[in-house]
Amino acid sequence: MAVSLTVLKEAGGEPRVAATPETVKKMSALGMKVTVEAGAGAEAGFDDASYKSAGANVAKTIGAVLKKSDVVFAVRAPATAQVKAMKAGAVLVASLNPYQDAAGVKAYAAAKVRAMAMELMPRITRAQSMDILSSQSNLSGYKAVLDATAEYTRALPMMMTAAGTVPAARVFVMGAGVAGLQAIATAKRLGAIVSATDVRRAAAEQVESLGGTFVMVEADEDDSGETAGGYAKEMSADYKKRQQALVTEHIAKQDIVICTALIPGRPAPELVTKKMLEGMKPGSVLVDLAVEQGGNCKLSKAGKVTVHKGVKLVAHKNVPGRLAGNASELFSRNLFNFIDAFFDKEKKTLALDWEDEIVAGIGLTRDGAVVHPALKAAKPAKKPAAKKPAKKPAAKKSARGAKK
Ligand code: NAI
Repeated sequence: MAVSLTVLKEAGGEPRVAATPETVKKMSALGMKVTVEAGAGAEAGFDDASYKSAGANVAKTIGAVLKKSDVVFAVRAPATAQVKAMKAGAVLVASLNPYQDAAGVKAYAAAKVRAMAMELMPRITRAQSMDILSSQSNLSGYKAVLDATAEYTRALPMMMTAAGTVPAARVFVMGAGVAGLQAIATAKRLGAIVSATDVRRAAAEQVESLGGTFVMVEADEDDSGETAGGYAKEMSADYKKRQQALVTEHIAKQDIVICTALIPGRPAPELVTKKMLEGMKPGSVLVDLAVEQGGNCKLSKAGKVTVHKGVKLVAHKNVPGRLAGNASELFSRNLFNFIDAFFDKEKKTLALDWEDEIVAGIGLTRDGAVVHPALKAAKPAKKPAAKKPAKKPAAKKSARGAKK
């Protein structure tokens, strides 16, 4: 029987959708039977008719369909009742926030669902097309600059007019990862004078290649600022002190500050203190993309635009959702690329290989047990069922930062 795949309509104000007519068409072409919950794509600009013409069934109520679905696609973790309705062995693919949602992980195990947390995708060359963090962060970086310009009462590019010169705005980007690099590129395109900082030394070259100036304190000896996985690490107390002094001086001259700094598995580092914020010019704008992880500025209020002593603090939640059309397209392709990689084209079945680096990296639960190493360490679980014969993972570590 054909593999049945269901696309859920999101709840809780999430405007994105986990499949678009384009990916539905591709999944149907693979031989899958796709059902989309009615209205699932409405807020991202995809109506039910477009899903139907792409080959999907559109279901008004999803309960009965869920019970028979082999694969379930969602943007965020589904409601507990939906998880309970899934059949044993169903594969749930979404952004599942497993470190913060222990109850959810328990529910997947209890329902014997094979839960795949897409945000845990290993950053290897083979998985780049499945990397939801990159695809969504890139859009966030772009939107952060637009959100800043919307709140800023001045222009970004220099303009020479008969009435005098409009000076170019100074934009400072803190954290030059995927979001930061896109913020730099966007601000440059708009004509701003851009500078950026990061703890990873490797970021300097990338910032400069986009036309930004790199601002950084001398690192502790031989410290690249990054982990073996290419992510930022927590820096020494001395480094943080020196970084603060430099940033305090630099930030006072900026018009727009875009904060994007994150450390995986930890709260976002505080980069702009109250004192530093108060040193900024009145009318300047700070956008805190890290607000949902605690914020790079503790004064930013999640979901709000506030003003502190004349400085605007922009702290929208779910920034990729503010570009729901593109964000859904990229997210959907990430999910499709994952399913496609593990779909046996001859037998037309899903063949998840738990020995594979990708499946092992994102798989949370299997056969009623929590199997992800990072979650097992926190909470011992039953041993998973017998594994398939080992298949050598074909992936090879990419050069960090090779992808932009
Ligand atoms: P992220 O979202 O975890 O963090 C954003 C940025 O904040 C990072 O560049 C990080 O170094 C920086 N940061 C953290 N603490 C900081 C502090 N105290 N001060 C200043 N900056 C700080 O990172 P993201 O965007 O996910 O990228 C991390 C790295 O992984 C980058 O080198 C990126 O190019 C690379 N990457 C590689 C991929 C692949 O090979 N498949 C895919 C995506 C990203």
